[in-house]
Amino acid sequence: MDKKIKLLIIAGARPNFMKVAPLIQYIRSYSQNVVNQEIVLNYKLIHTGQHYDEKMSDIFFSELGIPAPDVNLAVGSGSHAVQTANVMMKFEPICEQEKPDWVVVVGDVNSTLACTLVCAKLGIKVAHVEAGLRSYDRSMPEEVNRIVTDALADLLLTPSIDANENLKKEGIPDSKIKLVGNVMIDTLIANLEKVKSSQILNQLELVKKNFVYVTLHRPSNVDSQYGMVAIMSELHRIADTMPVVFSMHPRTRKMCEQFGITIDGYKSLRVIDPLGYHDSLCLTEAARFILTDSGGIQEESTYFRTPCLTLRPNTERPVTITLGSNKLTSMERLSVDIEEVLGSSTEIGEIPPLWDGLASKRIINCLIDSTESGGFV
Ligand code: UD1
Repeated sequence: MDKKIKLLIIAGARPNFMKVAPLIQYIRSYSQNVVNQEIVLNYKLIHTGQHYDEKMSDIFFSELGIPAPDVNLAVGSGSHAVQTANVMMKFEPICEQEKPDWVVVVGDVNSTLACTLVCAKLGIKVAHVEAGLRSYDRSMPEEVNRIVTDALADLLLTPSIDANENLKKEGIPDSKIKLVGNVMIDTLIANLEKVKSSQILNQLELVKKNFVYVTLHRPSNVDSQYGMVAIMSELHRIADTMPVVFSMHPRTRKMCEQFGITIDGYKSLRVIDPLGYHDSLCLTEAARFILTDSGGIQEESTYFRTPCLTLRPNTERPVTITLGSNKLTSMERLSVDIEEVLGSSTEIGEIPPLWDGLASKRIINCLIDSTESGGFV
């Protein structure tokens, strides 16, 4: 007799979409393969609506071929408590109605935490993709989300060995932890051809390896007037020597407007709207170096071996430093670090283990195995 496994897959914010895309892709190809007839995988995609702008959400669905969500909770923006609570209130009835075998959450955004909390109270099993990452900095909202999600999840699917070690230190039993590799790199590898055909370099009149790609959106960088003014003046200084493209998150734009910082009308410092996936990857590959505070771009630049300066005191993705092309920086150190980067090769570091395009296959197989064996709880 066929065994049915029902999954609810959660996506809420921009960095989630490239993590759910390969999972859905793999489930579809698994289901089409006649060899796998004994197990029927059913899934529904739930979009919490944490991100809702065309450029923060819809574009990723069309570029990555993600099917339209089965449900959109449309929670929108709000304080952390409001946003988290709204997701919880709207997700609980979906769980009660759907009765899934597993809820699959990815990453570390408020939607990840909210859905995990709902499931823990309803006794529904949670699989956390990208488990175990730690910055050891609880002033970051994502760190709180990571710690609570991992404490409650039943299956912890980790991208790198450091994540396994973090989880063991927190007393999580080995049986719950599975090293599966980096699912975001599955999407990157699957999209390399489309990245090659991106026209963004022409559109912005950029020359390969002769521009800087900037993305900054973390509250710790952009929510203070002093910090934001300092960042913009440093970017103007860099733009005196090399074109700078700043793909600006709506949060950063809102703060600049609030602080009265002029961002438009400069020739060498181009502030543009958030880019789609293929254009962003194209700039990541082609840049001389990157200045960012994004988690995903630290990984994507490591894959392309493009030097990356991360404007943060810590990272939950240490493998991007130990093996990859990433380096932490600060406003105080930035000009020294830029000098160093410009004196080094245009390609540095190496691609970490299990960044091989097969993480989603390992993840779905873990879910099947653990359902078969009665789960890990
Ligand atoms: C969230 C994640 C962060 C991730 C980032 C990627 C949390 C705690 N943070 O931060 O880990 O790196 O997404 O973007 O979940 N806004 C829009 N349009 C949108 C979405 C947001 O204009 O589609 C604006 C709103 O003014 C909103 C602000 O951005 O208040 C912040 O959005 P929010 O979802 O709270 O967090 P992010 O800063 O995007």
